[in-house]
Amino acid sequence: MKLNDCHSFHDFRKLAKQKLPGPIFHYIDGAADDEITYQRNTSAFNDVDLVPNVLAGVEDVDMSVEVMGQKLGLPIYCAPTALQRLFHHDGERAVAKAATKFDTMFGVSSLATVTVEEIEKLAPGPKLFQFYFHKDRGLNDALLERARATNFNVLALTVDTITGGNRERDLYTGFTSPPKLSLNSLMSFAAHPSWAWNFLTKEKFDMPHLSGHVSAGTNMAVSVGEYFSTMLDQSMNWKDAEKLCAQWNGQFALKGIMSVEDAKRAVDIGCTGIMVSNHGGRQLDGARSPFDQLAEICDAVGDQIDVICEGGIQRGTHILKALSVGAKACSAGRFYLYALGGAGQPGVERALEKIRSEVERDMKLMGITSLDQLSQNNLRWRHRSFG
Ligand code: LAC
Repeated sequence: MKLNDCHSFHDFRKLAKQKLPGPIFHYIDGAADDEITYQRNTSAFNDVDLVPNVLAGVEDVDMSVEVMGQKLGLPIYCAPTALQRLFHHDGERAVAKAATKFDTMFGVSSLATVTVEEIEKLAPGPKLFQFYFHKDRGLNDALLERARATNFNVLALTVDTITGGNRERDLYTGFTSPPKLSLNSLMSFAAHPSWAWNFLTKEKFDMPHLSGHVSAGTNMAVSVGEYFSTMLDQSMNWKDAEKLCAQWNGQFALKGIMSVEDAKRAVDIGCTGIMVSNHGGRQLDGARSPFDQLAEICDAVGDQIDVICEGGIQRGTHILKALSVGAKACSAGRFYLYALGGAGQPGVERALEKIRSEVERDMKLMGITSLDQLSQNNLRWRHRSFG
């Protein structure tokens, strides 16, 4: 598989599988328990059909959206994801540059492997900082101040990782951060010499926003599940979220909201956005998919807060379906991570280019020239009446 042969999500996934050592690929590709929710996150889109209009004069289409005060050239942005220099030695640098080129937002994880100071220089466009609420309050304050000092536009508090999900593929492969050199992983690294060469000879692996505060995950190998379960504060509650929102005093989102009750509380505490998300199926298997939950949440709070649909998005039509229901934008992780792992910055650019051209084509085929022309009227559900 070559980059030029990659036309869809599935092709980028194949390329990543070929280029990455097994433990790394399966960390990206895997999810919790039986991965039912992970599968459903995408298949949910197939339970609703688009009803196009024609003869609409669509030679010029505007793909821009405004979400949490940010104008994006595309209705999809790069969700914050951890550990990117494990997937490709350029890591977040590659994604920052590609997102900037495509005029979309770049989400940076608390567990990023490049500093926010460097990312600020590489990505002058809209940036979101994903925040984990640690037991260590000094670390929390430091993260917040760094994100503020580097002019991040949005702070997103992740609320669905209160404990580690059961990622069985990681148990089988022994995946840890930094990678542990077990016999199994060494064999897999040896089978992928160009990855191993880059990992060993390029800049040492680090999670610079955490190092100096904690050793777990930075220079002490732990699984991501262990990290969540031991470093994050399980007492986190609505009061903490409200305090953080006030402390940030800007565009603030809760990432991982699934119920209408919680969506309403997010409005009450002053959030400006919510990501309807189940963490890519990586936490609670059996949880409903974001797309299945989207209508009830948008109907309840869509006029008071920006709702983002996150999870399972692989196609332009998935984005159009989510926006028809009422989401302001979509975010996705794996769709650009496979491309990053497979081919670095050119890979991410190609993934963004492919989704951009799908959205453009699909808008024309739907008979719309701007995304605000989409509504629930252009959807039909196969198995239930809508609304
Ligand atoms: C994960 C975290 C780190 O799902 O977002 O692996």
